[in-house]
Amino acid sequence: MSMKPFPMNLNFKTGELTPNDRTNIRKLSDMKGMFLDSEAERRILEKDDPLIYSFSEKVLPEENGHLQIATTTIHPGKIGDEYHMTKGHYHRRPDTSEMYLGLEGEGCLLMQTVEGDFESITIRPGTVAYIPPYWGHRMVNTGRTPYIFFAVYPGDAGHNYGDIEKTGFLKILIERNGKPLLIDNPRWKK
Ligand SMILES: [Fe+2]
Repeated sequence: MSMKPFPMNLNFKTGELTPNDRTNIRKLSDMKGMFLDSEAERRILEKDDPLIYSFSEKVLPEENGHLQIATTTIHPGKIGDEYHMTKGHYHRRPDTSEMYLGLEGEGCLLMQTVEGDFESITIRPGTVAYIPPYWGHRMVNTGRTPYIFFAVYPGDAGHNYGDIEKTGFLKILIERNGKPLLIDNPRWKK
């Protein structure tokens, strides 16, 4: 028997997806070493373990032909000069794509390939970004309010954090004179 069709509700203001099966949280301690300023990370973790982002998902089969559906909220803030961001990943099946829809707040989508290509797209409410196969992706909250977006990707895409956990992305987004600035990541190795 095949799965039956079903509706969900997406709150465009809060990103709340109902019904959802799972909400995952990522605190600073879950992202140790991913922000460039390790001294700032250490100082913050001495007193606190701030929530960086959370995402809610509907559990669907991780199979070719299905889709995965999720909403993510990145809380505003910085570690040193670097804005709060998602861990970022490639897909375990690298020939799969993804679609992001901005709902609230302002952010930036960073994308790269293993060959060293890099692209960024500013995301505002209503921006639809298409991430083609083979592009790793990370979202960054460059605003002062929660940054909320909706994502759809193939059921069997999976996640591959790989070297991103160790060396990060080619470029990082920092605040300079109150504005976002993309700079080369000194730790990135091809
Ligand atoms: Fe993805």
